[in-house]
Amino acid sequence: MTQKYLKIGHRGAKGHLAENTIESITKALEYHVDGIEIDVHRCATGELVVFHDFTLDRMTNGTGEMAAHSFEALRKLKIDTYYQIPTLEEVLNLLCNSCLLNIELKGKNTAEGTVQIIKDAVKGKKWSYNNIIVSSFQHHELEHVFKHDKNILLGVLTKANMDEALEFAKTVNAVAIHPNVALVTRSNVKRVQELGYSVNVWTANEKATIERMKKYGVDGIISDYPDRL
Ligand code: G3P
Ligand code: CA
Repeated sequence: MTQKYLKIGHRGAKGHLAENTIESITKALEYHVDGIEIDVHRCATGELVVFHDFTLDRMTNGTGEMAAHSFEALRKLKIDTYYQIPTLEEVLNLLCNSCLLNIELKGKNTAEGTVQIIKDAVKGKKWSYNNIIVSSFQHHELEHVFKHDKNILLGVLTKANMDEALEFAKTVNAVAIHPNVALVTRSNVKRVQELGYSVNVWTANEKATIERMKKYGVDGIISDYPDRL
């Protein structure tokens, strides 16, 4: 029997096009993903933007702290000459409930705005709660989401410690653990699933790693190359 797992594009289709851009997300959709993972930061004027790094230098023609810049200033920047930094709302409008959206709260103070944007999207019937999962390494951001909207599905990210992630997951009624691929074994997938959580693993890029994750029976695989899933 073939194992069913969610195919999730990491930062869109990071392996193919500039990460966290509308174009990268559109590329992932062309590969018929079940979901898209994106990162969110809050800029100096309060808007939520889709971007991975805390500084602008690696990805854009700007420099310095992302959070110190106004939205207007960020919008003038270019990623790989052509692309713009999108807002969280633009990504929600693009996808419009057509697949799962994994919003990673990467920057500080991102929970409050994200909750509001999700609430508005659900209220406007553009999205349903079951198609959005908010994840973070930052426990206090997830606590904020849990406190303000119990309908939002939560995933606990971990790089290093599955037990700590499981302990915390209980406190915010999370539905999933999102472990780094290096942490994943057949036995801990089984254990986490028996405790009632899904396991969405990141970032599986090599064919052999992807095959191993499938064999372990994970629920979702997040990859820079969603076409390999
Ligand atoms: O959400 C999974 C993964 O994206 C977490 O790490 O550094 O790629 O945001 P990073
Ligand atoms: Ca991420």
